[in-house]
Amino acid sequence: MDIRKKFLDFFESKGHKVYPSAPLVPDDPSLLFTNAGMVPFKPIFTGEKPAPTPPRATSSQLCMRAGGKHNDLENVGYTNRHHTLFEMLGNFSFGDYFKEEAIAYAWEFVTEVLKLDKDRLWITIHESDDEAGKIWQKYVSKDRIVKMGDKDNFWQMGDTGPCGPCSEIHYDQGEKFNSSEDYLGGEGDRFLEIWNLVFMQYNRDESGKLTPLPRPSIDTGMGLERITAVFEGVESNYETSIFKPLIQKVVEITGKEYFKDKRGASHRVIADHIRAVSFLVAQGVRFDREGRGYVLRRILRRGVRHGYMLGMKEPFMYKIVDTLANQMKDNYPYLEEKKEAIKEAIKIEEERFFETIDKGMALFKEELSKTTGNIFSGEVAFKLYDTYGFPLDLTQDMLREVNKKVDIETFDRLMKEQKERARANWKGSGDKKINLKDLEKYPPNKFVGYEKTFHKTKIKALFDEEFNEVDKLNGSGWVMLEETPFYAESGGQVGDRGELRIENGELRINVVDTKKFDERNLSKVEKAKLKVGDEVLAVVDESRREIAKHHSATHLLHSALRKVLGEHITQAGSLVEANRLRFDFTHPKALSKEELNKIEEMVNRVIARGFEGEVSEMSIDEAKKLGAMALFGEKYGDIVRVVKFGDFSIELCGGTHVKNTSEIGSFYIVKESGVSAGVRRIEAVVGYSAYEYGKNYKDLVEELKSKNKTNDLDKFIEKQKEEIKKLKEEIKSLKQAAVKEIKPINKDGINFVIERIDNANLREIATDLKGRVDNLVTFLIGENKGKVNFVAVSKVKDIKAGDLIKEFAPIVGGKGGGKPDFAQGGGKDIERIDEVIKKVKEKFGI
Ligand code: ALA
Repeated sequence: MDIRKKFLDFFESKGHKVYPSAPLVPDDPSLLFTNAGMVPFKPIFTGEKPAPTPPRATSSQLCMRAGGKHNDLENVGYTNRHHTLFEMLGNFSFGDYFKEEAIAYAWEFVTEVLKLDKDRLWITIHESDDEAGKIWQKYVSKDRIVKMGDKDNFWQMGDTGPCGPCSEIHYDQGEKFNSSEDYLGGEGDRFLEIWNLVFMQYNRDESGKLTPLPRPSIDTGMGLERITAVFEGVESNYETSIFKPLIQKVVEITGKEYFKDKRGASHRVIADHIRAVSFLVAQGVRFDREGRGYVLRRILRRGVRHGYMLGMKEPFMYKIVDTLANQMKDNYPYLEEKKEAIKEAIKIEEERFFETIDKGMALFKEELSKTTGNIFSGEVAFKLYDTYGFPLDLTQDMLREVNKKVDIETFDRLMKEQKERARANWKGSGDKKINLKDLEKYPPNKFVGYEKTFHKTKIKALFDEEFNEVDKLNGSGWVMLEETPFYAESGGQVGDRGELRIENGELRINVVDTKKFDERNLSKVEKAKLKVGDEVLAVVDESRREIAKHHSATHLLHSALRKVLGEHITQAGSLVEANRLRFDFTHPKALSKEELNKIEEMVNRVIARGFEGEVSEMSIDEAKKLGAMALFGEKYGDIVRVVKFGDFSIELCGGTHVKNTSEIGSFYIVKESGVSAGVRRIEAVVGYSAYEYGKNYKDLVEELKSKNKTNDLDKFIEKQKEEIKKLKEEIKSLKQAAVKEIKPINKDGINFVIERIDNANLREIATDLKGRVDNLVTFLIGENKGKVNFVAVSKVKDIKAGDLIKEFAPIVGGKGGGKPDFAQGGGKDIERIDEVIKKVKEKFGI
């Protein structure tokens, strides 16, 4: 049975709207990852946003519980039911129904749709919640309803945010388990919490204070993997139809059998972690040294370490992505669509860790053998982190297997010291923390700049450089206009500049930048004399037109990249300015010249065709149907702005664009380079900047022509090349002739050649002599490119070439050696070359 579908259908039939899974990276700075089904709805619970119609929702939300407040990472692999990534089935009421219906729906779903055995179900409620207790008594007997404290039955999303008492449904798996934790609410496997119904009643602020929510609401959560295990009658999530194919794939790749007990921990870790890693990468998170990207790295490296324990010596995790994508393709088609790029990104990161894992493991084992107590050196843990890329939790994971712990105080101290050193190197960057409190009382101002570049309006509010609100501004600060034509920096497009004209244009104040703070567009002004309420004519600088050209060209480039290189191309960053554009995207290797030419030509063709730029607003579903790109980070239910150029490019975008591609003029790729593993960057110019770029090339060519007095550079260069070739040949034959001139000096039957020859290939000359002179002993020395070279050859038994070099090299500050018949070396004291010649001759009495 497809439980996910059954669940969503069930709640849809109860008047709920079905929402797709929102991004794992939430639009909420207080959270690392979306960690519950309610996260995308948080502003509705808190009352920041009005309730949607209908005020009921249901979803199967991808959740991550790694790194943040709800962190299960360290348990994964060692229990039957912890995961980094899982899906949470949930139903939500926004001030609509409350406990009564929430409990009724849950009971109906569990007992009538899933048909779970009622005799196995137990209920927990918050100790203060008699109301819930009473409702439950309609369905289960009183002795099966158990009161618990805050620890078990009070749910909160994070340190702040909506929260409330909750009630949980537990499933008794029977007496086959044997753990001291096998009691209701315990960590054992016998009583499984399957569904949590949260009665959202409060919002917790930063000071910890609880304020009642505007409308009591419902938030429920049921782990899909766990309920699947119960439904399929297996003891562990890892034996469900969700995990089996992944575990099987791990067996196939590693060649190591799977065990359900302790011995299977590594298989479970890998099967779990590849899910989290694949979804995070698919949703645009990159492996990084900090933040979310570092959590991603930690998860992958933990997986790699477990593979290493199973004997893997090279990247292997990426090979599981195909299985996962295939399994998820109906619900998460983007995994299948992007799987090549996902595999490549994972493989590169695996390779990086495999480079240091051997050395790190050796260090770890060495230290472990020296560790007598149960505390492992914090210094070594830090070295493992700093030098070999072992995240702390990976080291802790290894120590867990031998019941030891890292000396965390020392580790933290070293980490802090390192951060301080890094900060000291950065001094001076000091960003001021902006206090937005004053701003919040003004509703967001309207942006009118899509239609016009100047606009008559009034000053709504003023802030000084420290962001304190002021009535009058004298000097530099920030202006909030009632309606503004200035585009605020976002989506990679830089903020607008321009001027504010007051008193019929007699006074002009420079706008040097525009930024967005919490949905409000504020413009930075300099040398201003303004007061709140002033009427102004806001005039956008002409450079906006050039910015729009670069922005539209970025869209065309994005499309061309996908058409030429493949659908795996995903935007990884972008910058749009008046005189250039920069576009970062996922691709495993450098682009060839042919590929770059093809892309450049394609974009120029589209520009020349003169496609209309069509901008329209629509629901995210409609945009998706049209095939719009960049669908991540958008919230479902949102109205989005879609920018379209013919059928060549369709993207969601809030930026400013040309009305027709022909305005862009022409497009040149200036540079292609790598940004980080698996991410490439293209820099390009269009419009007037493209003219300048072309002109610079033209000027350069003209200058080269006139300097070299030619009209045909190609011919000129060919001629030069030929000339050089001829000269080289001439030199060579002259040198050969000179070498032939060398006459050996015969002494006691030995033919000596002891000569200084500068700027020559001594080895070649010596070899030539060796070939044609019997009983030869030669020592050649000479200057070449500022250094001293020497070669010795001996065909005489008692004289060893290597010894000659060893004896004389020190005079010119050099060294060298070789075999008895051939040796060579180099030195640096050019001025002592003649002295060497003299001494060698003396040695043989010549
Ligand atoms: N938000 C609740 C939970 O995560 C349902 O358990």
